[in-house]
Amino acid sequence: MPDEQPTSEHAEVRAQLFDMLVGFMRTQALSVIAKLGVADVLTSTPMDVSEIARRVSAHEPSLYRLLRFLATEGVFAEVEPRRFTETALSNGLRTDAPVTARWLAIMLGSEQYRSWGDALHSFMTGEPAFDQVYGSGFFDYLAEHPDASGTFDRAMAAGSQGRVADLLSYDWTGIERVADIGGGNGAALGVVLASNPHLRGVLFDLPTVVVAADEVLRDAGVLDRCDIVGGDFFTDSLPPADVYVLSQILHDWNDERASAILRNCRRTLADDGRLLLVEGIVPDGPEPDFGKLFDLHMLVLVGGKERTESEWRALLAQERFEFRQVTPDGLIEARPV
Ligand SMILES: C[S@@+](CC[C@H](N)C(=O)[O-])C[C@H]1O[C@@H](n2cnc3c(N)ncnc32)[C@H](O)[C@@H]1O
Repeated sequence: MPDEQPTSEHAEVRAQLFDMLVGFMRTQALSVIAKLGVADVLTSTPMDVSEIARRVSAHEPSLYRLLRFLATEGVFAEVEPRRFTETALSNGLRTDAPVTARWLAIMLGSEQYRSWGDALHSFMTGEPAFDQVYGSGFFDYLAEHPDASGTFDRAMAAGSQGRVADLLSYDWTGIERVADIGGGNGAALGVVLASNPHLRGVLFDLPTVVVAADEVLRDAGVLDRCDIVGGDFFTDSLPPADVYVLSQILHDWNDERASAILRNCRRTLADDGRLLLVEGIVPDGPEPDFGKLFDLHMLVLVGGKERTESEWRALLAQERFEFRQVTPDGLIEARPV
């Protein structure tokens, strides 16, 4: 091909690739806006960029350039020269938005972003680039960095709406006690308990994470029906329950580590108990699926993976669980065999 003359099609291909390649700039543009809290100060009344910069302590000429660009993407609107208003997209970044993306934007533009800078390491070794960049595993890092940990927990909790809907649609009849293993700050468990007054709950997560749960479960009005247990799901005995929920847990780990968690669950789960896995299922075919991108993120960040149905079946069978898919959204029920 070296002698081939460039055509307009070649140029189009290059332009398309260029557009894909600059995705990292968009990520940072949104993340910087989220870190500054710009969406919190804008309303439907136009505000001059000098006032915005003053309120968020930013460099005015640079902030203007950032807002001018983001307005072209529908995040903020430049309604008069240098005067901006909110939009639906910018409101999604407000701290008080119902399912705010602010913490997600901060999280994805911080340590997670930097670990992608060394992604080549993951694809040459199969090991998480995060560990290479930060010198420790992701969750160990969070335990040592309360700000990053708080951002992560809030990002997970705000994004849990779909997962919670899956859990709410589950038939909880006849179940007395549910344990959310790796349940973060208890946001999801709080909703499940609030909707099922007959249920008792146990929240299990790392000791540094469950410290935030008291308030969340009290706000949900279920603290009197819920125990909070800090521990490690690899080494500590899990609290007894009829159902163990593992929401977005096993995809954080490679097969060996995921098996170890399942083995620990199998030890304390009653023979007639159930596991509920709130996880994605990657399609076997070549069709586009967000899980195929997120799978890469799992590798780079934590050495984990998104799994196909046959991979889920094999993983569960290895630890004497039988796979059953119970909702179209992919809630997986597994029973001991
Ligand atoms: C991806 S988050 C999922 C949080 C929540 N279940 C959800 O669906 O939003 C993974 C959770 O696993 C917890 N975790 C990580 N390692 C753990 C360990 N060794 N023992 C207990 N929890 C752990 C983290 O603190 C975090 O809350």
